[in-house]
Amino acid sequence: MTVSVSIHENYDRLSEQVARIFARHLLNTPDTTFGFATGETPKQFYERLAELYDRGFLDFQQLKAFNLDEFYPVGPDHPKRFKRYMDRHLYDHVNVDPRQVHVPDGTTDQPEKEARAYEEKIRRSGGIDLQLLGIGCNGHIGFNEPGSAWDSETRVVSIASQTREQYSVESEPLPDQAITMGIKTIMHSSRIVLMASGTRKAEIVNRALNGPVTREVPASILQLHPHLQVCLDQQAASRIDESYTNDEDPVERIEQEVAQS
Ligand code: GLP
Repeated sequence: MTVSVSIHENYDRLSEQVARIFARHLLNTPDTTFGFATGETPKQFYERLAELYDRGFLDFQQLKAFNLDEFYPVGPDHPKRFKRYMDRHLYDHVNVDPRQVHVPDGTTDQPEKEARAYEEKIRRSGGIDLQLLGIGCNGHIGFNEPGSAWDSETRVVSIASQTREQYSVESEPLPDQAITMGIKTIMHSSRIVLMASGTRKAEIVNRALNGPVTREVPASILQLHPHLQVCLDQQAASRIDESYTNDEDPVERIEQEVAQS
């Protein structure tokens, strides 16, 4: 295994540990830029961060933050809108400057323009210092589904049917597209924390960390990030098989794939 992996007793401990990583970073660098993710996995992480704020340990005033993705198209009150998720789980509870926290605008009627502007906004702000990632059961990161190009930037994408099933529960129909940071956008972050919990993630976590670097498993590209930290609970780590062979020379193959895409 080439990446740094920490395994925690359960979801609570995992959330605490990831919150500690972000809290420490914010304490040391109050004007930092975070990249945030949504989904079930980081809910308790956000709760812990808000708690640390409540107790007077953290100050979010100078923080800049960019979310990975957003459904498209979504109405302002769509229950699954990631903007709502962020407000509910973090932003409503801490002293962030609303002008400094960003989620792609899924309500726009010019999504391609919004995607390009979002990429540019990240660039202009100096890039992401610390990016939080979850992982989809098919290996997606953000909404970069299997097959995504390694050199992709923020763009409009179709959501894979497997991913849609994961979300489609409520009466509200789920949009079939999203605006997502690209693989290249994510890989340009200075530091990445990948967080996964539960047995349903165990197999894909193993493939992402120990399998070949392949566009079929977008998260496998993270093996090549120089500052990746993987934080798992015991269930998500239960299938890690260190004998699973790594690519002989993933860098060379990726260069070829980029050239071909
Ligand atoms: C979603 C999001 C990802 C998230 C992933 C895992 O589709 N686009 O950013 O990390 O799925 O979600 P969960 O934590 O709910 O398993």
